[in-house]
Amino acid sequence: MLTTELTERLGIRYPIVGAPMAGVAHGALARAVSEGGGLGMVGVGSTDAAEMVEREGAIASDAGRLPFGVGLMAWALEDRPDLLQATIASRPRLVSVSFGPPGPYVGALHDAGILAAAQVPDLASAEEAERSGVDLVVAQGADAGGHAGEVGTLPLLQLLVESLRLPVLAAGGIGSPRGVAAVLAAGAAGAWVGTCLLASPEAANRPEARQRVISARETDTVRTSVFDVAQGIPWPPGFPGRALRNRFTDAWHGRERELAADSDAGAQLMEAKREADYDVAYIYAGQAVGLVSESRPAAEVVRRLGEGAEQLLRQRCRALLSRG
Ligand SMILES: Cc1cc2nc3c(=O)[nH]c(=O)nc-3n(C[C@H](O)[C@H](O)[C@H](O)COP(=O)(O)O)c2cc1C
Repeated sequence: MLTTELTERLGIRYPIVGAPMAGVAHGALARAVSEGGGLGMVGVGSTDAAEMVEREGAIASDAGRLPFGVGLMAWALEDRPDLLQATIASRPRLVSVSFGPPGPYVGALHDAGILAAAQVPDLASAEEAERSGVDLVVAQGADAGGHAGEVGTLPLLQLLVESLRLPVLAAGGIGSPRGVAAVLAAGAAGAWVGTCLLASPEAANRPEARQRVISARETDTVRTSVFDVAQGIPWPPGFPGRALRNRFTDAWHGRERELAADSDAGAQLMEAKREADYDVAYIYAGQAVGLVSESRPAAEVVRRLGEGAEQLLRQRCRALLSRG
């Protein structure tokens, strides 16, 4: 049995969190992760409706039977207090705030008996989050799928585990039992995984996207703002999104100013999204995409990660320490 502050505080079997992923991690995926023994999270994007949060939260919790979490974006909450209210009304165990300071939201979450997490890209943001009273911090490295900062998972995790008093989770590039074992051995209280769930049938993405995830190699991603620029989404600076490279990124990455002025490119992207044409439309995914080689139910992914990490840690510790 792997026991960490995360498994103890949340009462879950494995120290594994299914990352909130807007547009992909809705109620069905979150429920499957929690059924597998992890904590499933619902990802809420800047344009999602408040009703979506309550509906997907109800699916995730399976009428109160399962714990679940909700992931919010700090910069989106500034104009959308309804998303925070809907989140609190859906009664999650944990709420994460990413891509900006969590401070303004911690009090309301704690008043409702909800644990607060901050997903952060660097040490300064982590220290600010700790001062603002969150319960745990997620070290999100640049290897991660979706929007993230520029420091790699491993250096960031080491810094945060050394510097904070709070439990730290590791996010970014973890896609196999070895990855889970590595971050636990380094002092993380858990692994926060997104990309390795992108091919699971419970995900809210399209089957064509899942197939691309299965085919992609670890070298097939790029950190880019082009999809946000083309859609006019006001992401704060410093958070490009890691996505699968395609014709659109090849054409526009590095030419973001021109792209912003090109309304045809924006229209083309919207059309490609509707048609599931992923030579143009985006699939956000991290470098761990190279470890996803088939579509497995999310509960099975979580169990394999948890059981495999436990076995590896036993074997490696025995082998490494036996000659001492
Ligand atoms: C498709 C996708 C969408 C994401 N959307 C969100 C989001 O809405 N909120 C958030 O906090 N993080 C989001 N993330 C980042 C994850 O929370 C997490 O940091 C990341 O998936 C971990 O790295 P990995 O993808 O290598 O496992 C997203 C990631 C992906 C792949």
